[in-house]
Amino acid sequence: MGMKILLVGSGGREHAMAEAITRDGEAALSAFMARRNPGIARLAKGTRIGKETDPGQVRDFAVAEKADYAIIGPEAPLEAGVVDILEESGIPCAGPTRAAARLETDKAFCRDMMAAHGIAGCPRYRVFRDPSEAAAFIGDSESDLVVKPAGLTGGKGVRVMGEQVDRAGAMAYVRTLSGSVVLEERLLGEEFTLQAFVDGTRLVPAPLVQDHKRAFEGDTGPNTGGMGSYSMPDHRLPFVSEADYGKALRIMEDVVRALAREGHPYRGILYGQFMNTRDGPRVVEFNARFGDPEAMNVLPIMTNSLAGVIAGIVEGNLSAKKVGFGKVATVCKYLVPEGYPDSPRSGEPVTPAPGNGVRLYYANVEERGGALHTLTSRTLAFVGIAGTLEEAEAAAEAAASSSGGRVYHRRDIGTRDLLAKRTAHMEAIR
Ligand code: AMP
Ligand code: GLY
Repeated sequence: MGMKILLVGSGGREHAMAEAITRDGEAALSAFMARRNPGIARLAKGTRIGKETDPGQVRDFAVAEKADYAIIGPEAPLEAGVVDILEESGIPCAGPTRAAARLETDKAFCRDMMAAHGIAGCPRYRVFRDPSEAAAFIGDSESDLVVKPAGLTGGKGVRVMGEQVDRAGAMAYVRTLSGSVVLEERLLGEEFTLQAFVDGTRLVPAPLVQDHKRAFEGDTGPNTGGMGSYSMPDHRLPFVSEADYGKALRIMEDVVRALAREGHPYRGILYGQFMNTRDGPRVVEFNARFGDPEAMNVLPIMTNSLAGVIAGIVEGNLSAKKVGFGKVATVCKYLVPEGYPDSPRSGEPVTPAPGNGVRLYYANVEERGGALHTLTSRTLAFVGIAGTLEEAEAAAEAAASSSGGRVYHRRDIGTRDLLAKRTAHMEAIR
């Protein structure tokens, strides 16, 4: 047992991170969590419940635990400066400093940075500080726009004209916002996620993943944090060509180079959300961390421990040789409380069904008197892992549908039908 690694976060993503860190027994885990995640708690040698966005609390625990390195699951602690304070205390992090994390935490910074460095894939956009000017701009525009508050909104702040709101609705919405707002052109296409490990200069990609943001089957209902996701044995997606993939990777490399040039070298996990359009991949957004659920697709099939990759990130000697992924398909399905996301039923017992070839990750769930109960966000995730997408989907679906409680999930995620729909949509666009 060599390294000691501090993990900050308490959701499904962090449960998958905890498992990937401790997988080969070479690293010990210390977990700092907003609430006790039973899955993480079982894997950790030391735990503390505290405020994830209080850098002092996180540092005190990290120092007491004698952590060698730290990794941060969610974005809020990055914005709060947790990495900055840990590094000041001599604990290097596989996560960006507050300044580098602005790539995610400030959408105006992200677009301006892409524009200033001439990075491909940036949609046409404008930043407004005055809501009535933004509303006037929407009123005058000919085409559909997307309204984005510049700061973090937990994935719930964006409104897409022509999809979620009409022009009048977009104008009314923008008037309710305070702070800077980004208005940008509406991109049409298929979305995909590219996550990569970054050591300040080098970038090592993980398999492509597609997430499903809408609550209900057939991509209907309100936007959520993500209801589930899948990946393919060849680590690509059928509606993303090799040329598209190469362009997306190149955009991410250019961003890493630009941040280094601006004096904020990026270390950690870089998450690119792309819209594959008629003209190739365009950037929807960057995140400064793994995606949730997308972490659960790539981490369980890593053929090496995440602990070694964390060491490579912080020591600046990451290489593709140190990062492997099994040639298998994965399908992740989240169980969420009835009524999620608008009026979730919390406090309800939930009984996950075990299954062959399925991982169970705990998310926003409470263990009480030996039983699990829902809280207000996503409850549990099942990840089917198999040689083909069909088998992975069947495994995840069997476990999700045999589980008990006042929860629901999307049966269509990872099915051949849905994939065929995606591919047909892409063909129609091109
Ligand atoms: P974000 O918080 O930036 O990831 O946006 C949330 C969701 O809004 C994305 O996953 C997309 O589905 C959608 N979206 C964001 N920006 C655009 C855009 N420029 N065009 C079309 N859809 C977008
Ligand atoms: N799945 C989208 C996100 O983690 O932001």
